[in-house]
Amino acid sequence: MAGLRASNAIRQLTMRTMRPAVTPVFRLAVKCYTPQEPKFVQIWNARSFHAGQESLEDQSAGQVHFRESKTPHPLLAKPHQLGNAELSISLNHIWSEEEIQDRLGNLYQHRPKTFSDKIMHRIMWGLYRAFNWVTGFKPVNTPVRAVEWRLIVLESFAGVPGFMAAMFRHFRCLRTLQRDHGWIHTLLEEAENERMHLLVCMKMFKAGFVTRLLVMGAQVFMTPFLAAIYVVNPGAVHRFVGYLEETACLTYANIIHQVETKGTPLNEAWAHLRAPGLAKAYWKLSEDAMWIDALKCMFADESNHRDVNHTFATMNSDDPNPFVTKHRADAAMAWRLDSQGLSADVGCHKTLEVKKNE
Ligand SMILES: [Fe+2]
Ligand SMILES: [Fe+2]
Repeated sequence: MAGLRASNAIRQLTMRTMRPAVTPVFRLAVKCYTPQEPKFVQIWNARSFHAGQESLEDQSAGQVHFRESKTPHPLLAKPHQLGNAELSISLNHIWSEEEIQDRLGNLYQHRPKTFSDKIMHRIMWGLYRAFNWVTGFKPVNTPVRAVEWRLIVLESFAGVPGFMAAMFRHFRCLRTLQRDHGWIHTLLEEAENERMHLLVCMKMFKAGFVTRLLVMGAQVFMTPFLAAIYVVNPGAVHRFVGYLEETACLTYANIIHQVETKGTPLNEAWAHLRAPGLAKAYWKLSEDAMWIDALKCMFADESNHRDVNHTFATMNSDDPNPFVTKHRADAAMAWRLDSQGLSADVGCHKTLEVKKNE
């Protein structure tokens, strides 16, 4: 805007001070020139710093997570088209209050044993401390803005390794003409899960210019780094992700604690916020679910990623995926809740009320 005002002032000044002989020509030229912001600034502004504007506006819990298509899936892969015994699609785990409390009370941390474990551990915890310093995150009375942009950067980065690992395993199958043993499904589900965390966060707060730069920088620099290691030693990357998820669990557990602690900036800013419709649909939360309930589900998801990646880190690439049965159970549970119109028991009446009575 300041640029536009300056351009207009220069144009006015030029019009007034022009000599009469050249005035008509210059007048025409100046009139034709309309100062505009550069194209890339216009495009940037049009994005209005918010993800998925129209597609994410629905606030109701009843929205369908995946858009329905009128064309039947060639493999009949939709849960509602199949009987329980034949469920084949992987959906996210629907957490219960008991499961979440259990995981909040047990923040598992793997002790590095091998040389590569130790290197990955050092890199990850070094990044974690640097990230705390850069974002201004504090374990007590952390500024709200620090948490907002921390979550956006964290989730946008956490969505990278699962998708990258799935891609490598997919190409390996094509290259070696051999099967994958079920890993790709779990890795893609993890990538989608992280993407949903990011989109849910984007329903609650906005990303500024610096945050967007950080997100892009993290993707540009960390993706080749992780890919190069995955080619040589896939287990090391899974171990790295396991450590990354440990730090994510710490972050979310701390945020949850601060939101539930009266008098903290996070309590004042977030304790009264309702969960966005997207979060209610994704974790099948009740209509009166609060933002903190969505945070608890995100924490539980991170603890699942931690366990999955630490497990993958100990396995050979051709070992069968031990989580296939869990995916089928998750899909069956999601389908059952949907078909009966029920929600998970995670909700404000179960969480904040308990806290209030203590
Ligand atoms: Fe996440
Ligand atoms: Fe995660």
